[in-house]
Amino acid sequence: MALKEILLTPGPSQVPHRVRAKLAEPAWYHRSSRFREIYKEVRAGLQQVFETQSDVLVFTGSGTVAMEAGIVNIVGPGRKAVVVSAGKWGERLVQIFEQFKLGIDVVKLEYGRSPSPEQLAERAKDPAVQAVYVHLCETSTGAKYDIEAIGKAVRAANPEALLAVDGISGAIGMACPLDAWGVDLFMAGSQKGLMMPPGLSMLTVSPKAWKVVEGNKGAPTYYSSLLRARKDLPNNDTPFTPGNTLFDAQNEALKMLLEEGIHNVHKRHATLAQAARAGVAALGLELFPDSPAEVLTVVKAPNGIESSAIIKYARDRFGVTLADGQGDMKGKVLRLAHMGYCSGMDLLSGLAAIEFGLKNAGAKVTFGSGVAAAQELLAKAPKDVWM
Ligand SMILES: Cc1ncc(COP(=O)(O)O)c(C=O)c1O
Repeated sequence: MALKEILLTPGPSQVPHRVRAKLAEPAWYHRSSRFREIYKEVRAGLQQVFETQSDVLVFTGSGTVAMEAGIVNIVGPGRKAVVVSAGKWGERLVQIFEQFKLGIDVVKLEYGRSPSPEQLAERAKDPAVQAVYVHLCETSTGAKYDIEAIGKAVRAANPEALLAVDGISGAIGMACPLDAWGVDLFMAGSQKGLMMPPGLSMLTVSPKAWKVVEGNKGAPTYYSSLLRARKDLPNNDTPFTPGNTLFDAQNEALKMLLEEGIHNVHKRHATLAQAARAGVAALGLELFPDSPAEVLTVVKAPNGIESSAIIKYARDRFGVTLADGQGDMKGKVLRLAHMGYCSGMDLLSGLAAIEFGLKNAGAKVTFGSGVAAAQELLAKAPKDVWM
């Protein structure tokens, strides 16, 4: 029999049964009142979970579509953006700017570091700066960025500059109330905190950001044109064929998140993160980032052991999928995600799988030590962690 899968990667993440049931429904026509009703509900649901009144546009495509849309529609000729690059996803932001030959001022940091609000404010002082691009969570290193403080500092330095946040992995699991923190553009993807398979990407656009978009009519984009997408919004339609079955399933996932309550969702993730950290510490594993995010835990591979060996054993032998490092970090770090539809029991399975993998690779491990440390914390947590 095939192994029972437990997916603990930072996207895709696990998909609840209620959502999978929606995906199994027969195909249906997208230019219909059914779609328009769903798109309206999805956008309203996203506004609630993102805690914003800004428009939310949903594109059919992976999270990178929202990144591209949130860049090419914003930074026009003669303007530039401050972009933080401290991992693979910062590098992707930089690549998009380079691809479209847009002005950029890169704040390059060592992997695992988070930017200081002051250093971003300093760079944002330049009046040519149209926007500052940061991550809520840099998924390749597990680092969290302090969006609230960055927003305050950047606005004080340059009130015209927009704050653009890649929340593709951080969204939902990590608190980031967009309006309260002054986020103008927020990018998300369906396959992480939003409890869906890959295929949808979201971008919020604040009124201040719309003004910039309106002034940048020649933006080099077709599919991800924000002006084109906005034209269809009053009818709750999309300019191109939407992945309508995905929208339907996303609507169901949003209902589940709203039933749980977005602040409870944040608390669940914070509890899981604390338990994960207690577990890896008990196993003698060192955290990789300075400031760890709530949606995944990234640890350094112990001396002389490749994380890839631990990950392969956990997956092949037990059906537990953890993530390796990306790019140059392959084999050097292990990433245990606790995002989206993840419960305390899923986390304990992940820690148990790491223990098996470590033992198999020759490390000294006392079985149950990481699991027990996490259990101690989870035992005190509210029962919602066991959803
Ligand atoms: C922070 C971050 N940004 C961007 C992306 C790219 O998203 P996608 O692979 O959905 O295009 C990811 C994917 O893991 C991510 O974690």
